[in-house]
Amino acid sequence: MNDLQHAGRSAADLAVDHLAAIADGPVWRPVAEADRSWLTEQPLPTSGRPLADLLHDVRERMLPYPMGNGHPRFFGWVNSPPSPAGVLVAPLAAAMNPSCAGGEHAGTLLERTAVRWLAELVGFPHRPGAGLLTSGASMATVIALATARQRAIRQQGDDVRETGLYGHSPLTVYVSAEGHSCVRKAAELLGLGSRYLRTVPVDSTYRMDTDELRRLITADSAAGMRPLFVAASAGTVNTGAVDPLEDIAGIAREHGSWFHIDGAYGALGVLADGAGPRYAGLEQADSLALDPHKWLGVPVDAGCVLFRDPAGPRDTFSLVPPYLRDDEADQLGWFSEYGPEQTRSFRAMRVWATIGHLGREGIVRLVQHTTNLAHTLAAMIEASDDFHLLAPAVNSVVAFRHQPTTLDPATADSLNQALPTAVQRRGNAFLTGTRLSGTAALRACILHPHTTEADLGVLLDEIRAAAGEITA
Ligand SMILES: Cc1ncc(COP(=O)(O)O)c(C=O)c1O
Repeated sequence: MNDLQHAGRSAADLAVDHLAAIADGPVWRPVAEADRSWLTEQPLPTSGRPLADLLHDVRERMLPYPMGNGHPRFFGWVNSPPSPAGVLVAPLAAAMNPSCAGGEHAGTLLERTAVRWLAELVGFPHRPGAGLLTSGASMATVIALATARQRAIRQQGDDVRETGLYGHSPLTVYVSAEGHSCVRKAAELLGLGSRYLRTVPVDSTYRMDTDELRRLITADSAAGMRPLFVAASAGTVNTGAVDPLEDIAGIAREHGSWFHIDGAYGALGVLADGAGPRYAGLEQADSLALDPHKWLGVPVDAGCVLFRDPAGPRDTFSLVPPYLRDDEADQLGWFSEYGPEQTRSFRAMRVWATIGHLGREGIVRLVQHTTNLAHTLAAMIEASDDFHLLAPAVNSVVAFRHQPTTLDPATADSLNQALPTAVQRRGNAFLTGTRLSGTAALRACILHPHTTEADLGVLLDEIRAAAGEITA
């Protein structure tokens, strides 16, 4: 065996052993000072080192310090464990190392299938070419908003790529108060200006208030602005809420606005038992962002943007200098004509392997299991006298608060703000916080196929124990 074969087998063993041992270790641990210095301050090496030495460093200095999201008691943000099939094929995609900008090879051809499968899973109509894999939902949103911007300027007889936004009346963007910050980032990046971003209030269940949406759009139109882009959420990051998509689709259509859905986390929630009606209208979106690297568990990074019509993104991004190709590509062109990235990694292999291993049935089971656990956690919270549920548990996020009866609201607020870090440092569970209706909140996002009801009990006990430490 040569060095690469030998090291390759060791690397595979390391990965598999790491995955097998995760549940027995702490969810997260602080990085030891010596390792922190090593990780951050290594000098540039003059001579190369053997592969076996590098693997030794990975084992000793890196694998002991994961973010925590492989563990069944990781409930933070929206970060899933990696699917075993995705982990398995990741080095193979790297070994092939294509650029999936375009051309005829396995990487680009398989991406067509991966995108079509994602659309089919969530019930979004798919036309060939109408979607691509991205680094995540943030990039998906940039691509969708840029496409909407080009369509709006085209409708005024211009091409935004040529004229920019100069001389055009302001274009307004609408997102709910619970919408993800990636919408604002995209609007700022694309020169639309956060001044023209409208934060639509939410109702008591944290869904976009459609009367308010209509009122804002009408006021903006009357003031000479163009309502460009309505970004609805299918699964908000704080509570998992799904906006009233069908109503929003109607309002967007009525005003000639682009209808976008951020389904980064929650689009897959449509697969849970009885969830269908909540997602009615999803199929009407002009664009849908969804992240295979969230609920589906595809190893990072893997996002996706789907379009109703493939012509829009191509009109927005296609630029084919002669050094890329001077022949006619197939009808669909290159992926790099549908987004800003030129060199693109072989994400499709990880998406394909993950879906292929689980199958539709396995994905439904994963979504159902984690959704059921969220309902169980919500019921445990409601049955307790020291926790308070802040929003209905839809999808697999639960937003709540620790509220011991002895604490006044202001003290409870600072306690809840301090709790996530305190829980994380104890190492037995990991959750993160947020603010909901102006108060500090805890949120648990359940994405791991091996999380159990017992883990939920541990989570609540860990919060109580951390609260005891803080108040002591
Ligand atoms: C609802 C929602 N939208 C968008 C994003 C941004 O996605 P990404 O981090 O993949 O860019 C996230 C990330 O957590 C999210 O939860």
